[in-house]
Amino acid sequence: MGTIVVNGGRRLNGQLFVQGSKNAVLPILAATILTREPCYLRHVPAIKDVQVSLQILSQLGGRVTRMDGSVHIENAILNPENLTPTLASKMRSSILFSGACLSAYGYSRLDKPGGCLIGERPIDMHLQCFRDMGAHVEEHDTYTILSADRLQGCIHHLRLPSVGVTENVLLAAVLAEGTTIIRGAAREPEIVTLCQCLRKAGARIAGEGSSQITVQGVEKLHGFVFHVPADRIVAATYLCSVMATGGSLWLSGVNAWEMDSLLRVLERMGAEVGVRPHSMHLQMKGKPVGIPFLQTGYYPELPTDVQSLLLIPLCLSKGAGEIEERIFENRFRIVPELQKMGAVVHTDGNRVRYEGVEALHGTAVRAAELRGGAALVMAGLAAQGQTVISGIEYIERGYENLVGDLKRIGADIYYER
Ligand code: UD1
Repeated sequence: MGTIVVNGGRRLNGQLFVQGSKNAVLPILAATILTREPCYLRHVPAIKDVQVSLQILSQLGGRVTRMDGSVHIENAILNPENLTPTLASKMRSSILFSGACLSAYGYSRLDKPGGCLIGERPIDMHLQCFRDMGAHVEEHDTYTILSADRLQGCIHHLRLPSVGVTENVLLAAVLAEGTTIIRGAAREPEIVTLCQCLRKAGARIAGEGSSQITVQGVEKLHGFVFHVPADRIVAATYLCSVMATGGSLWLSGVNAWEMDSLLRVLERMGAEVGVRPHSMHLQMKGKPVGIPFLQTGYYPELPTDVQSLLLIPLCLSKGAGEIEERIFENRFRIVPELQKMGAVVHTDGNRVRYEGVEALHGTAVRAAELRGGAALVMAGLAAQGQTVISGIEYIERGYENLVGDLKRIGADIYYER
């Protein structure tokens, strides 16, 4: 599969245009199943998870055409029974394709979803919501069959604001009979984006961005054209890289308000941050300042997806502290790898504790999940000497051009295939 090689110690300076959002585009790709008319998406990131999603649509019977950053999809008539377990189990978000197939075709086979190994990641809430909407759920060891005539609107009380469950209920509710209310809904920007897209297709939705969303089911949706917004976690990756190496970075195409919780942390660590309507600037001089206590949480709190990214500048900071991980139970897989690089860091239950060191040193490390993998690349950027990162297939799940982007802003980084 190859490795990424980084010769560390260079400051990063320049400007980057941020790729389309992985977490926004995946439910939108599932939403194309809800209409038989053509859909056209722009600013679609060229990442593995999108590639798998497009393969799923093709396997279901859709016609998919990619042109540079755009995708044209025509799902005139699909057969949900065509989906093979191997493809579905490659990616956790394949569960959203089940919700959309159930809603539009009354049938779906759900194979144990894959994705990053960051925790148990149960699907009980997804299944309960489908049951509450009248679906028949037949659970087997490795797969589940979902079936329904037409789903019925109802009131859902989510026991926690799951992003995936909120998206799945939205996909199911837009074509359901009657009104669906989601109480305790996720408020992430990607939920708002999905609702904007579904509304373009003719869905009747209100309240997205708050914890109660109301959907009035319609008989039919039509095709849509949609521009995928920038990826706030990729933006966070580049910002945290500059925090670790020092330097100055302009990011274009971003909505900085979506990253408010992170930007406030970066300012506390010593960054100068400037925000404009569709761009932002960060400058980091000197060593980062450590923060005694941080915790991840549901939006608008600090995202779990930036936890390992932030850990790199914190491990190089003046000071010590801890981060409490409150969303996933196994999100510290980079800790032993960082220890190999000289970081003083260890885990204690759902907390990771660090003491800032003067420098990290390059060595061979292995990525075991998407954001942790990107964080190891960042650690390599800031380390003395050479770092070789394997397991890069995880990184390619979510980053279109991590190596090229970092090279453009001054990193000494390359692929060794
Ligand atoms: C999405 C994001 C992921 C992000 C996560 C949390 C996508 C493609 N992925 O993942 O990058 O880290 O939100 O912001 O958008 N849970 C249950 N039962 C369920 C479903 C979820 O207990 O049926 C729990 C999970 O174990 C977790 C919590 O709910 O502890 C939140 O997970 P969820 O928001 O569902 O994450 P994803 O949608 O999988």
